[in-house]
Amino acid sequence: APATAAGRGLLGFTPVPTSDADKVTVPAGYQAQVLIPWGTPLQPDGPAWRKDASNSAAEQAQQVGMHHDGMNFFPLGRGRDGSRHGLLVLNHEYVQPGILYPDGDKVITQEKVDKALAAHGVSIVEIAERGGSWRVVKSGLARKVTGNTPVTYSGPVPPGHPALKAAGPPRGTLNNCSHGVTPWGTYVTCEENWNAYFGTEDASWKPSPAQARYGINNVGFGYRWHTADPRFDIATNPNEANRFGWVVEIDPMRPGSTPVKRTRLGRIKHEGAVMTTARGRVVAYMGDDQDGEYIYKFVGSGSWRLHRALGRSPLDHGTLYVARFDDDGTGTWLPLEYGKGPLTAANGWQDQADVLLRTRTAADALGATKMDRAEWTAVNPRTKDVYATLTNGAGAGNAANPRTPNPYGHIIRWREKDADNTATTFRWDIFVLAGDPAYDPRVKLDPADIFGSPDGLWFDPDGRMWIQTDISNSSQNLASKGYDNIANNQMLAADPRTGEIRRFLTGPRGCEVTGVITTPDQRTMFVNIQHPGETTAAWGESTPANPQGVSSWPDHDPAGRPRSATVVIRRTDGGVIGA
Ligand code: FEO
Ligand code: CA
Ligand code: CA
Ligand code: CA
Repeated sequence: APATAAGRGLLGFTPVPTSDADKVTVPAGYQAQVLIPWGTPLQPDGPAWRKDASNSAAEQAQQVGMHHDGMNFFPLGRGRDGSRHGLLVLNHEYVQPGILYPDGDKVITQEKVDKALAAHGVSIVEIAERGGSWRVVKSGLARKVTGNTPVTYSGPVPPGHPALKAAGPPRGTLNNCSHGVTPWGTYVTCEENWNAYFGTEDASWKPSPAQARYGINNVGFGYRWHTADPRFDIATNPNEANRFGWVVEIDPMRPGSTPVKRTRLGRIKHEGAVMTTARGRVVAYMGDDQDGEYIYKFVGSGSWRLHRALGRSPLDHGTLYVARFDDDGTGTWLPLEYGKGPLTAANGWQDQADVLLRTRTAADALGATKMDRAEWTAVNPRTKDVYATLTNGAGAGNAANPRTPNPYGHIIRWREKDADNTATTFRWDIFVLAGDPAYDPRVKLDPADIFGSPDGLWFDPDGRMWIQTDISNSSQNLASKGYDNIANNQMLAADPRTGEIRRFLTGPRGCEVTGVITTPDQRTMFVNIQHPGETTAAWGESTPANPQGVSSWPDHDPAGRPRSATVVIRRTDGGVIGA
């Protein structure tokens, strides 16, 4: 009988213990294979990876990028063939300058900026299972969308809008965190910490209130691209920053198509945009991942199929809402519509484009609920309930974010009225408070299943919920103690009906586990391991002199360096993953 039959739990594997080893661990009866680490050529005959990081920017543009994140598998072929051959489409969130170049980033040049831009964005690779393992195959569809690829805009902030006028035509997508898949089979990539890349040496420059609301300042995250490339000088080319912060649609089946930034979905630090449908409309849920920011949803107007038939994008027509979670367990979606509520000309709002360019400020005016860093959302395919990870934070101190500070994070869930994802009211509860009961008695997890800082979240077709963690410097700093028993980042599976949670995978040292998808038959799972060996307060940084830091995964080559990669997981008996 299938594991999903009544009376049997969804989780059928033996959990793995916590780990501080520099490797990937999976349950007994499972095997893991490393696929497409950073630098793998997109085509089998493309430029080969050089382990001293001496590949040029032009070569990096033909290779898999750095720091894998959100991901989807698009089958090529029908039935069984579609689970053995397909396109793997994945985001590359950011770069680690200490290992991207042979000599680190003490000196910044245009070539180094170009290599960093080429290592961001989205990789599309064609893969197939041949002779028992998965590999990259020659493809007419493989391509890279990078920080330099020509892009366009649609919706209320169209190409040519004054706010988008900057030096040169619009190019590129950056800080590609989580993702989404549209009902019509395209991929969306979401721009998260895009403010990171801007800066200026102009000591007289000060951010405008609109820039400051997104954290734009004179140094960004310290990349110093502006010292070599005036495109990223916020003082001389300020509107370049308005070109980022959007959800970007890419059609993987049309390699010549231009990525489109869908401005109707708002400008925030987009974590992801998980999509579902209700009453024939497309609905997208989106977190804004910064401490004290909000959760949003977009609801299409009218049938998405009709929009498509008329040659329009369903993502260009609809309403953006922001969530208010009330203390009594109810909630309301507040529309970010020009002319409604406080978003009027009398209050200084110009039009719908202005509302979307300043999405955060508009949400402030509506009285949205501050959250403890909203990361991924996921929709239960069986119930249409929505789950969202709140990874950690100082603690918003409201009922939906009850722990102050909140070093371990939690997962909230809500049911829209009548289980209709287009509804404007809902009921919410807290699915789980993460952490270690040894340090926080409010945590109800069994000590065998402890985890912290939930981030990636995905429902498989059976209704198993997969939880991935990102314990980072910021979360460890929030917890002066309390992460020591949890060790490396991990992936767990949950049965949302019973609340049972089991640890399925542990990652190598210093990594984050983020991005998960299976083939349609659920017999192959792809999981991303991001930034093995990244700096942490406890471990020390990868440097040009010591690129391996605490991790040499996956190559374990003393002359190499740690590389983000996809891990392919299968059962030795060929069964459904997790069952
Ligand atoms: Fe890129 Fe919020 O994780
Ligand atoms: Ca994330
Ligand atoms: Ca995170
Ligand atoms: Ca990370």
